[in-house]
Amino acid sequence: MCGIVGFTGSTAASPVLIEGLRRLEYRGYDSAGVAVQRNGQLRLVHRMGKVAGLAEAVEQEQLEGTCGIGHTRWATHGRPSTANAHPHTSCDGRIAVVHNGIIENYVELKEELEADGHRFTSQTDTEVAAHLIEAAYAQTPDLVEAVRAATQRMAGAYGLAVISADEPGAIVVTRKDSPIVIGMGPDGARVASDVIALIDATRDVTVMADGELAKLSPTEITYYNAAGQVVDPKITHIDWDIDVAEKGGYPDFMLKEIHEQPRVIRDTLAGRLVDGTLAIDELDLSVEELNLIDRVYVIACGTSYHAGLIAKNLIEGWARIPTEVEVASEFRYRNPIITPTTLVVAVSQSGETADTLAAIRDARCKGAKVFGITNVIGSPVARESDGVIYTKANKEIAVASTKSFLGQVVSLTLLGLLLAQVKGKMRTNQIRLLFRELADTAAQVESILSDVSAIDEAALACKDASSALFIGRGMGAAISYEGALKLKEISYLHAEAYAAGEMKHGPIALLCDGFPVIAIATQSPVYDKVISNLQESKARGAMIVAVATEGDEEIRKHADHVIYIPKVRDCFSAITASVPLQLLARSIAVLRGCNVDQPRNLAKSVTVE
Ligand code: AGP
Repeated sequence: MCGIVGFTGSTAASPVLIEGLRRLEYRGYDSAGVAVQRNGQLRLVHRMGKVAGLAEAVEQEQLEGTCGIGHTRWATHGRPSTANAHPHTSCDGRIAVVHNGIIENYVELKEELEADGHRFTSQTDTEVAAHLIEAAYAQTPDLVEAVRAATQRMAGAYGLAVISADEPGAIVVTRKDSPIVIGMGPDGARVASDVIALIDATRDVTVMADGELAKLSPTEITYYNAAGQVVDPKITHIDWDIDVAEKGGYPDFMLKEIHEQPRVIRDTLAGRLVDGTLAIDELDLSVEELNLIDRVYVIACGTSYHAGLIAKNLIEGWARIPTEVEVASEFRYRNPIITPTTLVVAVSQSGETADTLAAIRDARCKGAKVFGITNVIGSPVARESDGVIYTKANKEIAVASTKSFLGQVVSLTLLGLLLAQVKGKMRTNQIRLLFRELADTAAQVESILSDVSAIDEAALACKDASSALFIGRGMGAAISYEGALKLKEISYLHAEAYAAGEMKHGPIALLCDGFPVIAIATQSPVYDKVISNLQESKARGAMIVAVATEGDEEIRKHADHVIYIPKVRDCFSAITASVPLQLLARSIAVLRGCNVDQPRNLAKSVTVE
C-alpha cells in the first residue's frame, strides 16, 4: 500500500526521493508526491498515476533542495486525486507530512481543528496530522515535540515523516503499527517505510519501534522514546542484495521470483537438520511446551492462508493435532476456543497485514502462544509473535506472491515435522527420510522450470476464457485455491477453486463446451477419484488441463492438456504442483496484456483492515 521516503543530506533530495518511490512502486499506489525544503520554504509536487509522471513534473519544476519527503498513496480516505495525494501541509504551508496507515479519530480531530480556524484542502485523514502538528508547533516551536504532542491525540496506525520550513535539514519521523526504517548513507540520512528504498545507501538500518521518534539531519540521527528521552538505536544488518530490486534479465519480477524458488527451498532448509534431529530454535519453546500443544490455528490472508490449508493436511496427518485454518479477518471477530496449550501460527509474507496482526494480538490476549512465519525481518508480525520463522524468500517485489508462498509452505512443512517429532508420532529415521525428500523438491522445481512448453500451450488454450475452475482433492484442493487466486489476481480472468468432490453439488452447472477446468491430478491416494471428476467434467464439454505426475499416460485419455511434474510424495506435492500453476497464471496474464507485477487495485502489503 502507501510508501514513505525521506532524505536529508549533502546532495539534491529530489532524485533520491524519486528513486526511493520507484523502489516502492511494487506496493501498489494511485498517486504520488514530494515536498522539498529550500531557503526557508517548502515546495510540493503531486501527481496522479505513476512515479514516472511525478519524476517529469519534479524535473520541470526544478525542485532544488537537499531535504525532502515523498509518498506513494493507495487511497483509503478520499478518492485517488491530486488534492488527496501526499504530502499534506499545514494552513500556512510551512509543515508538510507524509503518512501511512489510518488515523481512526480523524473526523473528530478535523471538526475540532476546523472550529479552531484550520482550513482543510483534502478529504484525507492524513491532513489532520499536518494541522495538529502546526497547532502544537505554535505552542512549542520544536518539531520533535510538536510531532510527539500531535501523535498523542491520534488513534489508529501511522508511519509519519514531517518537515518544516522553519527547521532546515530536519526530518522528524515516528510510527505506530506502520513500519518505518532509518539509515545513514554516505551522502546523508534516509527514511522509508520499506528497507528496499534505502538499501543502496546502507545495509545497517534501524527498524523503529511503536511510539519511537527520530530526528534526521544530514550528519546524524537522534532517536527518542515515546516520553521524548534520547535513546540508543538498535541496528539491524540487511543481508540481501539490491539486485532483488532488479529484474536480472527476466521480463518481470514475477517470473524472476518464480525462478528463485529452488534457492528459497534450499535456504529455508539450511541448518534445520542437526545430528539427524529437526531444529527450529527461533520458536523459543521447550520440547515440553511443544509437546503440550493440543490445538493449532493457522491464521493468515490470501496466499498465506492457502499455505495454511496445506499445513493443516501436514500437521494433522503427521502430528495428529487438530488444526484449523482461518482467514485472519474472520478469526479476529469471532470467539475461537483458545487455551494456554493452543498454538496460533500467523503466516504473513509482508509481516504487516493489518488483519493478521490484529488476530495475533487477540490470540495472545486470550493466552495462546503465537508463532509468526514471515519474510520480513523485524516486521510487526515478527516482533509481536512469541517465536518467528523467517522464510528465506528475500524481498518479493511482484504483488502476486510466488517464492514467499513456497517459503511459507516449506517452513510450515518443517513445523509439521517438528510437531510430529516432539509428539513422538514419527520415528527419527522417518523424519530424516522426509527431510531429504523435502530437500529434493528444490531440484524437482528446477526441472519444472527448465521446460515450460506444456504450460505455455495450456495458457494459449485458456487465454480467451471468461472463467476457469480449479479442482483437486486432498492436497490438490489446497493447491487449487492458490492456483485460482494467482490466475484471477494477475490476469483478471475469473477463477474459482473447488474440492473436486464438490463439483456435482453446484459448480458443475458452469461447465459448457471449452470451459477450462484445471485439475491437480498428481499421484495420490485420491487419484482415481480425481479422474472420475475429470470424466464428469469432460462429459459436459470442459477443456481439461491436468497437472499430473511424470510417467502417467492414463491421464492423457482424460485431459486436453497435460503438464507433467516430477513424482513426489503426496505431502510435498504442494511444493511442486504450485509452480506450474504460477507459471500458467503468468503466461495467461502476459497473453492478455496485463501488468503482471502490479495488478490493478492490489497492494503488496495490506496495512488497513
Ligand atoms: C498474494 O498473491 C496476494 N497478493 C495476497 O493474497 C497476499 O497473500 C495477502 O494480502 C496476504 O499478505 P501477507 O502474506 O503479506 O500477509
